[in-house]
Amino acid sequence: MKRIAVLTSGGDAPGMNAAVRAVVRIGIHSGLEVFGVRHGYAGLIADEIEPLTARSVGGIMQLGGTFLGSARSEEFKTAPGRSKAIANLASRGIEALVIIGGNGSQAGAYALHREGFPVVGIASTIDNDLPCTDVSIGVDTAVNVALEAIDRLRVTASSHQRAFLVEVMGRKQGYLALAAGLAGGAELIIIPEVPMEPEEIARGLREAYDRGKEHAIAVVAEGAQYNAEAIAQYFREHGERLGFELRVTTLGHVQRGGAPGAFDRLLATRFGAAAVEALIRGETGVVVVIQEGNVRTVPLEEVVHGTKPLDLRLYELAQVLAK
Ligand code: F6P
Repeated sequence: MKRIAVLTSGGDAPGMNAAVRAVVRIGIHSGLEVFGVRHGYAGLIADEIEPLTARSVGGIMQLGGTFLGSARSEEFKTAPGRSKAIANLASRGIEALVIIGGNGSQAGAYALHREGFPVVGIASTIDNDLPCTDVSIGVDTAVNVALEAIDRLRVTASSHQRAFLVEVMGRKQGYLALAAGLAGGAELIIIPEVPMEPEEIARGLREAYDRGKEHAIAVVAEGAQYNAEAIAQYFREHGERLGFELRVTTLGHVQRGGAPGAFDRLLATRFGAAAVEALIRGETGVVVVIQEGNVRTVPLEEVVHGTKPLDLRLYELAQVLAK
């Protein structure tokens, strides 16, 4: 193998740049030529492929986002789209592709693998919902960004004896809300895995005051049965009866844009190096993950068809500790 390429796909995650840097520099160190694909699978189809050098990836490790750019591509989900992508790689003599991303991106990698193109995935999504890995690139930084917001809101909430609702990202799963809520000492955590009616949410916040607290903070996952907007609407309609107002903060993409912390830089660097090493060993159709502290590869099939249930013991712990 002489030439490989790397791309970042789906939602950007803090640490993606560190992973690209490691792929490029370990690749060059191992005698490979490394190419970068701009704008994920969309750029692969549009032939946005360029050679990268050790210098091209200088000064990027400390930056959030992805200097290669990312995208969500509908065309890549089609066989003709993938054929164009494979033809563009082949025209440059690129023999393998490293794909840094979450569930949708690894599904794309699996499709390429099934069509016979060598691929290695790298687990990266702030949502921490990718199966087979304890954690993915970006999770730690995203939780820390949410945590800083919760800590600040707690200060103003206490000053005014107010109730606050903070919505965090996490398309389908509640990991970010659970982790940030637990670490931030939230009074209530509202996640898709544990459905909660607005009346119950209001009761939970009220009980925090009854226990003598100066504030009441609820963290809600964007994918919860009732998200921040729906809960806020309920409070607008029933505020007088409930006896208190609710202030709402939606963090949204703020969580994705943070500069990667030490944990994500280290994880991404280890993942990037391991991806190139796997390709050199002749592995393909695998994803680089971390399990119990060990970086290893698992078959893409297991990742794409697997599930990653939330550890609800953490939810129970948060409930007890909120007292
Ligand atoms: O998967 C990462 C994520 O940030 C989710 O938490 C969120 O639901 C989604 O991406 C948002 O996607 P987009 O940036 O395309 O709006």
